Amino acid sequence: MCGIVGLVGEIKIADLIEALEKLEYRGYDSAGLAFLNNGKVQVEKTKGKVADLKNLVLDRIEQRINVGIAHTRWATHGEPNDINAHPHLDCSEKIVVVHNGIIENFRYLKNRLIELGHRFFSETDTEVIPHLIEEHYKGDLFEAIRKTVLKLEGSFAIAVMHADHPNMIVGARKGSPLIACEHGLASDVPPLLKYTKYMVPLNDEEIVVISEDGMKVFGFDGVEREKRAIEITWSYEDAQKSGFKHFMLKEIFEEPMCLVSVMTGRIKNGKVHFEELEGLKERLKNINFVKVVACGTSYHAALSFKYFLENLSDVNVDAEISSEFRYKRQHLKPNDVVIAISQSGETADTLESVRLAKRQGATVVAITNVVGSTLSRESDFTLYLNAGPEISVAATKSYVSQITLLYLLALKIMEIKGIWDEKHEGLIDRLLRMPEIFEKFLDQVDNIHQIAAKYKDFKHFMYIGRGYGYPTALEGALKLKEISYIHATAYPAGELKHGPIAMLGPDFPVFAVAPNDFLFSKTKSNIIECRSRKARIVLLTNEGNEEAFELADDVIFVSNSIDELYPILMTPAIQLFAYYVADELGLDPDKPRNLAKSVTVE
Ligand code: F6R
Repeated sequence: MCGIVGLVGEIKIADLIEALEKLEYRGYDSAGLAFLNNGKVQVEKTKGKVADLKNLVLDRIEQRINVGIAHTRWATHGEPNDINAHPHLDCSEKIVVVHNGIIENFRYLKNRLIELGHRFFSETDTEVIPHLIEEHYKGDLFEAIRKTVLKLEGSFAIAVMHADHPNMIVGARKGSPLIACEHGLASDVPPLLKYTKYMVPLNDEEIVVISEDGMKVFGFDGVEREKRAIEITWSYEDAQKSGFKHFMLKEIFEEPMCLVSVMTGRIKNGKVHFEELEGLKERLKNINFVKVVACGTSYHAALSFKYFLENLSDVNVDAEISSEFRYKRQHLKPNDVVIAISQSGETADTLESVRLAKRQGATVVAITNVVGSTLSRESDFTLYLNAGPEISVAATKSYVSQITLLYLLALKIMEIKGIWDEKHEGLIDRLLRMPEIFEKFLDQVDNIHQIAAKYKDFKHFMYIGRGYGYPTALEGALKLKEISYIHATAYPAGELKHGPIAMLGPDFPVFAVAPNDFLFSKTKSNIIECRSRKARIVLLTNEGNEEAFELADDVIFVSNSIDELYPILMTPAIQLFAYYVADELGLDPDKPRNLAKSVTVE
């Protein structure tokens, strides 16, 4: 996720900076802007935050410009540095582009463009766009951009300027958000609120041309489209959270988009592709053991991976909490593969575990959301989540992305090992349908809100689950305790009788993660045992489970699926339950007490 903005009219460089500041929540590892100066495109960009960019242009901040575009970056391709920062130019240095999204076929396009004589400077996917526009440009900027976007695969929102069209910005959208008005365009509403309350959210496959003559929207087919502006009634603060009360809620609602991002470019013709892992293929052929290290929520993602890969293959997965792993004698061998999972890529214990694993000769595959993080730099291979910045302290969208990415990795390992049949193809099909299923689920949050309100005053909660449900139960308990400060504990349902059931009673409810999977009859017995201790039951299960209301006081349903996919499908439910409990208690779930987003000390 990145933020893009373009402004047309009587503006100053300061206006571009101010607009960018309002998009910084979308990314903050580099920032840049471009404007026209005496008929030439001038680009200013730097690694770091918008404040660093502001310092760079401070002596010219009041300079008047007629048109400008700007970008704040959350890196997906290429490290966060000055060169990879946007905007990017073509060879003639007349065409300049900012981009949010991922161009899946950029390697192919780049190779073709290099053959045609184009020179590239950055490692980004974005840089192909100005060069492609240059190839198509015959004096008509709109037409050149239209031809270009038809060649791009993946997701994008772009803003383009051309030195020969001094009062014009052209934007295009496919899969990434873009809002436009007569004064400019942006990835989100806040930067434009200073200029107008009336805006047009573009649909996919639309191009907008904004100039002194006003704004026109066209389809990728070149046909002009009638658009009606909507009136924005939010304040700036609300708008930054897109109308959501908290970033945590907003980030849960971004999960469908994150599912798309994490799969983009990684599924082709029914198979999983990880270009990043080319050099590991041979090693994976005979692999029968994988070690995974992580902390907190990332560790719970590791556990879901363990259930998935162990159930579907002959590979043993040992998932260990990093702070334990690093202080225990390890017996890794040079051929071993260690997967290190960390949203931030900066968690001290996970980094130390990676160093230890590498000292023992193991190969480390990092899974992180932050390009250029210490984890990505110190590991042998890195897979990025591409979930965009997670502002709320509690991990939500990154967890969904982690499990999805780990499932893709497991499927890749199985394919390389020759374990592949219709079931695997079916899994891929179902993963691809997941964003749509999430969208539908998120339409019905009121039920979860109402249930959460009923349970907000309990002091304790027991989460239970079996098999695939167990990591979800662990994550549910962690979410609840960290943002609502209610004591929550999680156990495999089968463990209750070995001690924890002693605590249950009318003041100690149970949250059962129990899809109607092959273990349901077992979990059902455990739920009945809890009820006979008078514990109230919240049941998270799938639609069509006819026994649900007999078993539980309250039920949250998710769509029917196959056993393996419930850890992904059930995640928004446990997150929303915790969120609404915290919100009902009047707590700020974005900033829970005693916690930091990135744990860089042990
Ligand atoms: C919980 C949460 C933490 C993190 C943990 C590891 O909501 O966010 O438990 O998961 O601190 O962080 P990363 O994944 O950045 O290593």
